Amino acid sequence: MGKILVTGATGYIGSHTCVALMRAGYRVLAVDNLSRSKVASLARIQMITGIAPRFYNVDVCDEEEMNWIFRDHLIDCVIHFAGLKDVEESVRQPLDYYHNNVYGLLQLLHVMQRNRCKSLVFSSSATVYGAGETAPYKEDMKTSAVNPYGQTKLMGEQILRDLCATDPEWSVAALRYFNPIGAHESGLLGEDPSGVPGNLVPCIARAATGQTQALSVYGSDYDTPDGTGIRDYIHVMDVAEGHIAALREYTARHRGFRTFNLGTGKGSSVLEVVAAYEAACGKKIPLSMEARRSGDVAVSYADVTRAREELNWTASADLERMCADSWRFVCQNPRGLE
Ligand code: UD1
Repeated sequence: MGKILVTGATGYIGSHTCVALMRAGYRVLAVDNLSRSKVASLARIQMITGIAPRFYNVDVCDEEEMNWIFRDHLIDCVIHFAGLKDVEESVRQPLDYYHNNVYGLLQLLHVMQRNRCKSLVFSSSATVYGAGETAPYKEDMKTSAVNPYGQTKLMGEQILRDLCATDPEWSVAALRYFNPIGAHESGLLGEDPSGVPGNLVPCIARAATGQTQALSVYGSDYDTPDGTGIRDYIHVMDVAEGHIAALREYTARHRGFRTFNLGTGKGSSVLEVVAAYEAACGKKIPLSMEARRSGDVAVSYADVTRAREELNWTASADLERMCADSWRFVCQNPRGLE
């Protein structure tokens, strides 16, 4: 089995993917600058898998430090999670987003090229479908960005497409995540956002634990059956398994650049997620109906045909399971990962 360097390894999706990789027999080199995640997730990974991943507290922008890691190891493929992902923050601090997400990717690619490692799985996002297309989103639809965060993901994809077009040795799978939620079934790993969360499920969790008085529902007048926004929520372990599928079925066998949606293909409304969470936690979640959040689309869900046919991968967990796993993590870790 190969040796995989994982950047952003202590973050939400990164840490769950480390578990899936180690379970599948890969050797993992975990890299993170710990700016948005905690070193405690490494101990949790070890508790789940029985193996401590080798950890480097390194920023991907630090070409020299990254180069040392490549000098010490023969790395088969990189999975690049490291990046910032808060849309509102990206509007306030665009330069930080371009620095971390675009410059960080360029630095990583330079180091990989220098060390003749030309295989990469890139964290992209459903945000690249922008507002111009209608769900279900297919990979060949037109892409656009409505904020700096989305722009950095589009730029990342474009850089990788151009690189693969000029150097046929490169193999890059860009995985466009829809809405990862949930936690590892052990309750040991989960989503532990730094600061005030913006995504739906962490906000529901805060309302369920009484940290906030109510969940703000952003928009109840959308053209959807119950008026609230619809998204394609996918269990974070299914997302993690999607990376294993991308390694096995794409980067190990093909050259060139290819995008894949990672979603379930099914949309759920905000109120449906709230109902599933209420069933999981056995409590009523107080709601406060608010105006629409700017930049939100009414409906977003994936066409998952390409990942099913080419990666031989489909998501398996339903919303009930995602909410039950999220709640278990919240209950077992009232102060987050520590
Ligand atoms: C958001 C980002 C998207 C990013 C993704 C992953 C925006 C406009 N979009 O997507 O670019 O790729 O996160 O980080 O920020 N909701 C509430 N109350 C809340 C929070 C959310 O009603 O407190 C609603 C939203 O209006 C939306 C749904 O829940 O309808 C999901 O929201 P969220 O989890 O933020 O995901 P996205 O909007 O899909």
